[in-house]
Amino acid sequence: MALILGIESSCDESAAAIIDTAAPDLASRIVAQHIASQDEAHRPYGGVVPEIAARAHVERLTPLIAATLADAGLTLADMDAVAATAGPGLIGGVMVGLVTAKALAMAGDKPLLAVNHLEGHALSPRLADPTLRFPYVLLLVSGGHCQLLEVRGVGDYRRLATTIDDALGEAFDKTAKLIGLGYPGGPAVERLAREGNPKAVALPRPLLGSSDPNFSFAGLKSAVARAVVVTPAPTAADIAASFQQAAIDCLIDRTGRALDHSESMTALVVAGGVAANAAVRGALEALAARHDLRFVAPPPALCTDNAAMIAWAGGEKLALGHRDALDISARPRWPLDPGAEPVRGAGAKA
Ligand code: KG4
Ligand code: ZN
Repeated sequence: MALILGIESSCDESAAAIIDTAAPDLASRIVAQHIASQDEAHRPYGGVVPEIAARAHVERLTPLIAATLADAGLTLADMDAVAATAGPGLIGGVMVGLVTAKALAMAGDKPLLAVNHLEGHALSPRLADPTLRFPYVLLLVSGGHCQLLEVRGVGDYRRLATTIDDALGEAFDKTAKLIGLGYPGGPAVERLAREGNPKAVALPRPLLGSSDPNFSFAGLKSAVARAVVVTPAPTAADIAASFQQAAIDCLIDRTGRALDHSESMTALVVAGGVAANAAVRGALEALAARHDLRFVAPPPALCTDNAAMIAWAGGEKLALGHRDALDISARPRWPLDPGAEPVRGAGAKA
């Protein structure tokens, strides 16, 4: 049995979790966890304010860690390692979580594991499903990323595609703002889309059918901005449903192309905040079936940011003999496949 304390603070969720890596299933693997969302603090600004996020992590993390240990009936001395997100993300928050983990590792004389937040998402399906084996095709769809990757092993990723402009979560959040839904937007758009007609508003599907493997969502986002100002204006529900359908059509087309170009994969896997969306999951499941592949998606609460996935990724690294030095730095950018070609126009999101 290996007990790992995990800490997540890369965006607007402060979270702590204890994982038992040797337990047989998801329910017993997560020994205890706490997530404090900062939605209230950022709502007035319609998005995450980095400085507010960093300060909130300072205030919240220590009591969250204490509460997580207390719930488990364990102390730092019982842990086999301390893992924390070390990037990529909003650097102030990442530094708060990482320095907290360093202090605990030093005080408790425990191994430190500096985890790539994207690797936390990428391995989270293995936390949820003990039968999932490498290599698998991963669609990673979050607030900052939209990528297809071959996950060949821990620390071994090959990027198949990425967005050349916006992440899909960003497009969900922007759409929510345009139709007057609050922050965070993804879950609100999904709820409203159930009441709308996905064919009501004609929206573009950027790069659909293209030989270019990548994603693009900026044109879709701009088209939603134009659709809300026509008269008579479509209903918010019709816009939400039409946007979500256009986004799903793009995801399925691009992911289908990647599956056509990859061999010997054990499964199609989806992770990241947008993977919490039931319509997205349903469409990907059908795509996997058409390709005779298993489909694996973590439960929705494990798709959005959490510390259990960070502790799990730390545990996977520890099992391979990995540990990090106490002077390791926080990284605002940290691609999973450092060898991947930069893509035109991708800016900070590649
Ligand atoms: O992975 P995540 O929690 O944080 C990042 O690492 O970015 O992803 C957050 C993103 C946000 O853009 C949020 O609107 C989106 O995931 N999201 C959703 C849903 N739940 C969260 N998008 C669509 N449908 C959802 N149910
Ligand atoms: Zn994330």
